[in-house]
Amino acid sequence: MEHELVVLTKEEIFQFRRSLMSWYRNHARELPWRGVSDPYRTWLSEVMLQQTRVAAVIEHYESFLVRFPTILALALATESDVLAAWSGLGYYRRARMLHRAAQFITREWDGVLPKTSGELRTLPGIGEYTCAAIASIAFGESIAVVDGNVERVLLRLTGRAESGTAAGRAFVQAQAGALVPRRRINVQVNAAGDHNQAMMELGATICLPRAPLCLHCPVYSMCKTRGEHVTSARGVQRSLPAAYLLSLRKRGTVTEVLLERRAKDTSLMPGMVELPPLPQDAVEGREPLLRVRHAITNTNYYVQVFAAKGPQDRGLRRAVPAAKNDLEWVRTSQLASLPLTGLARKVLQRLDVMEVRPLQLPESV
Ligand code: ADE
Repeated sequence: MEHELVVLTKEEIFQFRRSLMSWYRNHARELPWRGVSDPYRTWLSEVMLQQTRVAAVIEHYESFLVRFPTILALALATESDVLAAWSGLGYYRRARMLHRAAQFITREWDGVLPKTSGELRTLPGIGEYTCAAIASIAFGESIAVVDGNVERVLLRLTGRAESGTAAGRAFVQAQAGALVPRRRINVQVNAAGDHNQAMMELGATICLPRAPLCLHCPVYSMCKTRGEHVTSARGVQRSLPAAYLLSLRKRGTVTEVLLERRAKDTSLMPGMVELPPLPQDAVEGREPLLRVRHAITNTNYYVQVFAAKGPQDRGLRRAVPAAKNDLEWVRTSQLASLPLTGLARKVLQRLDVMEVRPLQLPESV
């Protein structure tokens, strides 16, 4: 039984909620998805925020909503257009599942997001975290949200040793469930939704993984570890070299760039568009046009971009494996509408081939 696992007393629970909420009211960051009443916006923000920095989400959230203002608009879009709006956020499977869920909701739920965590859980791509976040934040359901931040807060608060076991997860879930306020006191106040956001906010801004800001913590006095708790070290970072070809051509006043579409059946970023990759041996001893570092999950890519300009660069063009019919010349003015990988977008913007974030407005706006 879950409640048997709860180590917090009733008094501690009330005190924790009170201190947390008064801190949150004064210190919550103003974020574009806070205080919105459209559940679609809550859903979108929670999906974007998974494993992604808030700053990157802010950059994409508004323009995504301009492009796809409703669930129906998203359902009617092509997958390629959805991926283009997601370009740079990473974990593109999220965008594909969001799109599929929008189509499912349009078909099965008359285009309206269901309101309970149980129903939300049946939608494509909506897991335990997302259904709890939407149900509590958008609809006020009393259900605990547990993400990595919340887990760290609760392990430190209770002093429980970290463990990735099922028992460890059940322990964290039980404490989170005991802390979330039970029911709505009135329609103006969403106690459960605000509490969940406050828990995540505490983990994201105060109870930091490596250097927690304990002196600013609203529940410092109740905390068993006060930041001493060791959370797992970051996974080992790999370093890998990568090389890409930049090939431009002029057609009258139009500039085109050579791009390659990744195979549909590849596991990493299928169907996305990038500069043609070059084998390392083809670039040995050559001077790159640009060097950039690009971090994805636990890998640091040391990227070099080589320009194919003069006749001496013909070897480079030939180094792009030939059996590909997935190479395509694309007008630079069209780049923003393509599902570019985050790296391709970064490189094309650095080299001034692509404008920095032009907002793609639909015709009706
Ligand atoms: N991280 C993910 N969702 C969040 C939210 N709603 N508030 C604060 N941090 C979050």
